[in-house]
This record gives sequence, structure tokens and C-alpha cells, in this order.
Amino acid sequence: MSDISSTAETAYADGKILKHTTRGVGVITFNNPDKRNAMSLEMWEGFGAALTSLRDDDTVRVVILRGAGGKAFVSGADISQFEKTRHNAAASEEYARRSAAQRALLADYPKPTIACIQGFCLGGGMQVAMLADIRIASHDSQFGIPAARLGIAYGYDGLRHLVSLVGPSWARLLMYTGMRIDSAEALRIGLVERVFPVDDLWAETMGLAHAISENAPLAIKAAKITIAQVLKDESQRDMDAIKAIGNACMDSQDFREGRQAFMQKRRPKFQGR
Ligand code: COA
Repeated sequence: MSDISSTAETAYADGKILKHTTRGVGVITFNNPDKRNAMSLEMWEGFGAALTSLRDDDTVRVVILRGAGGKAFVSGADISQFEKTRHNAAASEEYARRSAAQRALLADYPKPTIACIQGFCLGGGMQVAMLADIRIASHDSQFGIPAARLGIAYGYDGLRHLVSLVGPSWARLLMYTGMRIDSAEALRIGLVERVFPVDDLWAETMGLAHAISENAPLAIKAAKITIAQVLKDESQRDMDAIKAIGNACMDSQDFREGRQAFMQKRRPKFQGR
């Protein structure tokens, strides 16, 4: 995958996490190809730092997550660290706390996110992909959660997203067997939204990101907030937040611009306010 970057890459975690921006799109690359982009604790923390930086960059309207090397998105947590950091419940708690804090940034991300998946997407990699708003994959990708093959529990957050995407039966089949499925099956069960030939994947993903970045940011934020509330238990839903973002849209300059551009038969230019 290559593209002409507008900004130079910023490196985190000794270069195993990379970040750049291009025309309103932030890109985070998991860059540990020798280990199929397996995530060390340092990488989780670098990932969090990259997410925070793109979140706070006003020029960025959408964020793409991808893996380097062409063979994997992320092959899960780095198993070679488990002996030291995850060998029992107490050690695992600290590991889970530190890695979950970074995933929480993605779960609560205020901008749209796209996982661009080429190759293996396993375990913790699935967790990252499932936390993104949209998943786009190449034909040759493979998906699975081999927790039962390792003897670890996948946890509430990961399974909540899995069940909401594919339903309880497929979640059980994947979790009980630890099986891997291909892109066609992942598409069929709703784990990914679109699948492309590998040579088209990056251009298609960027095309989607640019389509999003040209739309009205507040309207997208309204959709993101409202869909997140729909997924919550009714008792937990924040209907006031939905009302507030709805009002912000209706009072925005962008809504005026959208109306005027339509009437004048031109493309709107949205500012996000
Ligand atoms: N953690 C640590 N190292 C990993 C890794 C992981 N999750 N996934 C792959 N690697 C390493 C391998 O140990 C190997 O290292 P080596 O070159 O020093 O032997 C290297 O990456 C390449 O992996 P390999 O298995 O030779 O490549 P492959 O293309 O045949 O298979 C996978 C790739 C991802 C299918 C396979 O490596 C695998 O099953 N990994 C474990 C996935 C997993 O269980 N994830 C859940 C963790 S919670």
C-alpha cells in the first residue's frame, strides 16, 4: 500500500506505530511486519498517542487504521510478551488496564474511523478493527479470535462488539473453535462492510475517507453520537446529547452552506461549524 503523504510520518513506539495526514485524512499504520504487526504494550501506548494527536488536529476529519507489510492488519497482542506481562490474573490486569485505556480512546473517538484490513486480522487486531466505525478488507484477508487456542478470555468489550456485528451464534462459533474465516465469509456475516481486490484496497479506502471528509462534520458527528446511543441499553441512553448535536446541526453555518450549495448547483464547502 502506498500513497503520497502530505505530511511526513511521525513515529511512535520506536517506529512500530506511524502517523501521517493527507488532505484531511489521518492515517495510523501498525508497523511491526516481522511479527505480522503483533501489538506490544509499547505499541498500544503509541497507538493511543497517535490517536490523540489526530483527534486534536483540526485539519483531520477522518482517520484510517492500517497494517504495514501487506501480510497483516494486526495479528493480535504480542504473545512473546505474555510470559512477562500476562502470565497470571494479577499481571494480566495491569496489561489489560494499560491496553484498554488506548482502545477506549478509539471507542470514544469523536471523528469517523475506518479499518483498512489487508491480511491477518486476529485477536486484539479484531478488537481494533471492530472498534473502528467501518471495516474495509482485501479479498485475501483472514479474520479470527484464537483466544480459546491460547487459553485466554477475550473480555466484555471485544465480545460486545463481536456480538453486535455478527450476532451471538457466529460469535460463539468463532470463539469456541478459534477458527479463521476469509473475507467473503466476513462480508456475509457483517464483520466487514466492503471487500476489494488487494490492488484496489488503498485507493478505495482513501476514496471513502475523502467522501466522508468532504461532508458536513457536524452531521457526521450527529450520526456517530446517535448510533452509539442506539447501541446502548435504553436506560443508559443520553437522549440530551442527541438533541444537542441535532440543534447544533440545524443552527450551523454548514447547514446554511449545504442548502445554498444545493440551490446554486455547486459543491458545498463545509467548515465544521
Ligand atoms: N505475537 C507475537 N509474535 C507473532 C504473533 C503474535 N501475535 N503473530 C505472529 N508472530 C510472529 C511469529 O512468531 C513469527 O516470528 P518468527 O519469524 O520469529 O518465527 C513471525 O511473526 C511470522 O509469523 P509466522 O507464523 O511465521 O507467519 P505466517 O504468515 O505463517 O502466520 C499468523 C501468521 C498471524 C497466522 C500466525 O503467526 C499466528 O497464528 N499468530 C498468532 C496469532 C494469535 O494467536 N493472535 C492472538 C493473540 S491474543
